[in-house]
Amino acid sequence: MLSRKENELLTRVGPGAPMGELMRRYWIPAAFSHQIEKPDGPPVRVKLLGEKLVVFRDTQGRVGLIDERCPHRTASMYFGRNEDCGLRCVYHGWKFDIHGDCTDLPSEPPGSTLQRKVKITAYPCLERGGVVWTYMGPKELQPEFPDLEWTRLPASHRHVTRHIQECNWLQGFEGGFDTSHLSFLHGGTADHSVSTVPSRYEVVGTDFGFIAGTGRDLPGGEINWTANVMLMPFHKIIASQPAGAHVWVPMDDENTMLYSVDFHPTRPLSEEELRRSKDFRGIHTQNIPGTDHAIANKNNDYLIDRDLQASGDSYTGMKGLGVQDCGIQESMGPIADRTIEHLGVSDTAIIKIRRLLLQTLKDHAEGKPLPGLDPASWRVRSARFKTPEGTPFADSMDAHVRVDRPAAAE
Ligand code: FES
Ligand SMILES: [Fe+2]
Repeated sequence: MLSRKENELLTRVGPGAPMGELMRRYWIPAAFSHQIEKPDGPPVRVKLLGEKLVVFRDTQGRVGLIDERCPHRTASMYFGRNEDCGLRCVYHGWKFDIHGDCTDLPSEPPGSTLQRKVKITAYPCLERGGVVWTYMGPKELQPEFPDLEWTRLPASHRHVTRHIQECNWLQGFEGGFDTSHLSFLHGGTADHSVSTVPSRYEVVGTDFGFIAGTGRDLPGGEINWTANVMLMPFHKIIASQPAGAHVWVPMDDENTMLYSVDFHPTRPLSEEELRRSKDFRGIHTQNIPGTDHAIANKNNDYLIDRDLQASGDSYTGMKGLGVQDCGIQESMGPIADRTIEHLGVSDTAIIKIRRLLLQTLKDHAEGKPLPGLDPASWRVRSARFKTPEGTPFADSMDAHVRVDRPAAAE
């Protein structure tokens, strides 16, 4: 349970909100590169941290991300003409380049000084792993792009999709680190006496974010750990085979663009692995063509099949992990009210994660160093390993999650 104030602190992401300002210190995904494949092609709308933007590729192939509103009289730049190294508003012809500079102002008399003065908000972009990333924070604090493994691999080694969750980012993010739901939502059986809920929960802050350890006691006294890596400010690396990742990118306070990744660090994904990615039983959702909305969505109750649910073949009657997560997380409301929860032992990780995030917000406000700004600190993978009884998780995790070398650059 959180106080109303704490819940607000963790969930609000718009300009000026503490969490929004913290997120603006990191590179964040804005779009897929393929959405703006061709130079001078149509711009694409992007919503990030409460800001309405458009992304476009200019004549030279450079990517620009600018305010959707024209600074003249606020018409949408989405309808603009992408031509000769800039996006031109079609209302009165004002034109801006990827840096936000006004390069043409044909509606004003010759010699007007307005052109020099007027700017459109523009954020720097780069492309990694088939994704356009942007940095929306203070210019002087812009970090280098981190050594995030899946973005450094050749296209053949990864499969990336995305879909919109109509709820606050923290609901999705908490779901990603809430290991106790796996035995119910995704893998539950009708036999309620069978439970594989873990017995140990550790959350340890690191130089990149945190590691959430879930432990199960084995008969011989050993402990079986899953160490899930969190990278600032909203990434998870999944300890699956092949590996996976999630990025919960807040579009605004009540909508989240969830990027889902399957990847293999050293070889192309096999046909079998790709087939599994594409059959929508796992973390990827099947979307309405041309949109980022899943076909199974809240308007059709996620296509819940009550007969399937009753049969015991599916705990939820919803098909696919991605749809199950999306459905249940959206059901908590646009922003879950954490003041009315009742938390138990199985929520230990969630409680610790919230505490850690609140502490990071405090550190940021006080100007203390933040995790995840050193690119090399991101050379990590989630892992499963065993420890003998009595070995603290925090002492053993590092050796298993750190990767000494960055993956080969694309
Ligand atoms: S509103 Fe864009 S040029 Fe006038
Ligand atoms: Fe889940």
